[in-house]
Amino acid sequence: MLFSFALCAVTASAALALTLPSASPNTLVARDPGQDSRSCLSIRSACDTNTTDPTNVFATPACIALVVCETPKYFIPDFPPNQPRLPRSAWNVVSGGSDVVTQQQFIDFYYGTIASLINSTSTNSTTGNSTNLPNGNPVPVYPTSAQTVINWWQAVVAWTGNCATSGIAYNNFADWIQYVDKPGVCGAVASCDPNVNANAPPCVPQRATDNGSCAEMVSQCAVSIGASTTTAPATSIFTQKYCVLSSFCYSQSTVDVLIKQLVKMDYLYTGQPVLSANQPRLSQAVFNDLARGKSYVSQQDMIDAYYGALTNTIKSCGGPPGAETVCPTGTSGPFPTDASYVIDFWNTVSAWTGFCSTRNIPYQNLADYLQYSSTVKAPTSCS
Ligand SMILES: *[C@@H]1O[C@H](CO)[C@@H](O)[C@H](O)[C@H]1NC(C)=O
Ligand SMILES: *[C@@H]1O[C@H](CO)[C@@H](O)[C@H](O)[C@H]1NC(C)=O
Ligand SMILES: *[C@@H]1O[C@H](CO)[C@@H](O)[C@H](O)[C@H]1NC(C)=O
Ligand SMILES: *[C@@H]1O[C@H](CO)[C@@H](O)[C@H](O)[C@H]1NC(C)=O
Ligand SMILES: *[C@@H]1O[C@H](CO)[C@@H](O)[C@H](O)[C@H]1NC(C)=O
Repeated sequence: MLFSFALCAVTASAALALTLPSASPNTLVARDPGQDSRSCLSIRSACDTNTTDPTNVFATPACIALVVCETPKYFIPDFPPNQPRLPRSAWNVVSGGSDVVTQQQFIDFYYGTIASLINSTSTNSTTGNSTNLPNGNPVPVYPTSAQTVINWWQAVVAWTGNCATSGIAYNNFADWIQYVDKPGVCGAVASCDPNVNANAPPCVPQRATDNGSCAEMVSQCAVSIGASTTTAPATSIFTQKYCVLSSFCYSQSTVDVLIKQLVKMDYLYTGQPVLSANQPRLSQAVFNDLARGKSYVSQQDMIDAYYGALTNTIKSCGGPPGAETVCPTGTSGPFPTDASYVIDFWNTVSAWTGFCSTRNIPYQNLADYLQYSSTVKAPTSCS
């Protein structure tokens, strides 16, 4: 745990060093680059020593401060799995009984938790260090400034969509703990800073049954368009089966998001603006392949095509982006956890194209979905 936390803390301190003014007068020790992460370690000792039931750590209010400064990614693996949802009673300690914890309340709680640790120890008159902490816990220190705590809190504020107020309601916060690291679950925004947001990689929402299959499809798409042209990078994606299948498994995002990612990775060049509407239409050859010679693609065709494309997958084995050599990986998958994943995204495509009754989609409608579903609103579910 200490190792992974250290990695996380280094990033935070490096960013802070660029932006923060001088240290808070409250600091127990002279300002140094590790102080912010050691303040979080102080919070950890408060969480650890005050936790009577490790299978319900969020019942300990100090652990609320800890999950914010460590993030759930580093916090959760250190405690028994399947923790119950954050108890309202612990939240009320921070919020003073209201549903929402304000940013100021959180800062006060963070500093207050460290203050209570400092006050529970005595000071060595020679070194000025605090001593007598239980279980050999580290000497408690405040962060370098309140801005550090604000930065940690703002990450949660952004994910929960509360940039306007910086206050977070109980259910939003409990959801953040539970879902922030689940693949395919996206927060409201990547950051409350619009400049940071503009450059953040898009989060692509996915159904839980995806099991990483769509990301594998996108990686095969990138390799296959790269290999499909001698004038790299490629200029069109609807001529490659893997890319067409990737477009479908982006049904909870948009085809435009996929195209932007491929452009950013230098696999695709589209000119500006980067939009699916400007892409050459679905190639007849790819359609015929998916439809197996019929005039429409059925749900079963799509299931077979999706699973088939994840069998004996391909990867790049060298060369610059857009001019890579394609190699077999020698493996298959990851496959979706079950075929309902394909059925669900085909449901979205069927609804958008207006073929809910049969889910058999002809060429023109399928080609329209690929080009226009990013920009033209239509039903996204049949039921
Ligand atoms: C730990 O628990 C005690 C008793 O409930 C409480 O008085 C104290 O404030 C808590 N300390 C911290 C750091 O949360
Ligand atoms: C800690 O002790 C200081 C100095 O005695 C006092 O001002 C402060 O209120 C105390 N903090 C807490 C949380 O007890
Ligand atoms: C204070 O710290 C010094 C240096 O670590 C140590 O030698 C000394 O025993 C400490 N004093 C007390 C009272 O703990
Ligand atoms: C005591 O404080 C000094 C700096 O004042 C620090 O270098 C040293 O590591 C501290 N000792 C302990 C045991 O925390
Ligand atoms: C999900 O993916 C993992 C590998 O990432 C694989 O081991 C597992 O078999 C997949 N699940 C199914 C149902 O195929």
